Amino acid sequence: MKIEGQAALVTGGASGLGEATARELARLGAKVAVLDRNAALAEKVAAEIGGVACACACDITDTDSVTAALDKAAAAHGPARILMNVAGIGSAKRIVGKDGNPAPLEDFVRVVNINLIGGYNMARLFAARCAKLDALDNGEKGVMLFTASVAAFDGQVGQQAYSASKGGLVGMTLPMARDLAQHAIRVCTVAPGLFATPLLLELPEAVQHSLAASIPFPPRLGQPSEFAELACHIVTNGHLNGEVIRLDGALRMAPR
Ligand SMILES: NC(=O)c1ccc[n+]([C@@H]2O[C@H](COP(=O)([O-])OP(=O)(O)OC[C@H]3O[C@@H](n4cnc5c(N)ncnc54)[C@H](O)[C@@H]3O)[C@@H](O)[C@H]2O)c1
Repeated sequence: MKIEGQAALVTGGASGLGEATARELARLGAKVAVLDRNAALAEKVAAEIGGVACACACDITDTDSVTAALDKAAAAHGPARILMNVAGIGSAKRIVGKDGNPAPLEDFVRVVNINLIGGYNMARLFAARCAKLDALDNGEKGVMLFTASVAAFDGQVGQQAYSASKGGLVGMTLPMARDLAQHAIRVCTVAPGLFATPLLLELPEAVQHSLAASIPFPPRLGQPSEFAELACHIVTNGHLNGEVIRLDGALRMAPR
């Protein structure tokens, strides 16, 4: 799908990989809605982005909140054909803590609820609207992307919740692409390795260097712009569908 002129939604668009994706989409001429639960930061990014952009306060786990955000974005830009699901949270919790106590179940539920169920919630509400649109000249109606993680495949100590949530996105990519084939909507997932977003950039420099050195090539953190480039390529390459793409410099995470 040609990006120029299309209305696009980016969850988690207020920071990190989502912000870079929102900026790249705008650079390529999309009308971008920045969806994030951090409304103030979403406003700031939308204002800075150049081109056509609007900010929508949105909690992806809350159907009313998503519906309101989709309505607001559609009123500003028309119906969206591109959904970039980038919002997510991290977590680290051993199943049996150093104190011998079981990990709190609420932590597992919270991570799966945001990363997996929130992603599905966005996808289903977007897809139902997109399916009603007329197909473009190339036969497509829409395209969406999920953001998993290499932790879906090689999760580290303490990453059960995070890996389960990202593994869930990986697992649902193909069946969702199959479901949505009849509606001419493509679905792909990117599984990033280690990227220079606020999360990692807040770590001490020595830790950042050692993380970067663990990447075979190039031995540096990924740039959010590299994620954004792939996200936009998935939109433009009409034959990419039902696939999970690792973007990790050949990184395979060690147990810890
Ligand atoms: N940075 C990395 O190295 C890396 C690696 C692998 C995967 N990822 C994944 O990429 C995505 C983006 O990560 P990032 O590093 O840019 O993080 P980030 O913290 O910089 O950005 C995440 C954004 O998501 C938003 N968000 C969180 N929960 C939300 C909710 N319920 N509803 C709406 N918005 C919500 C946050 O407010 C934030 O703006 C996440 O899904 C993360 O798991 C990141």
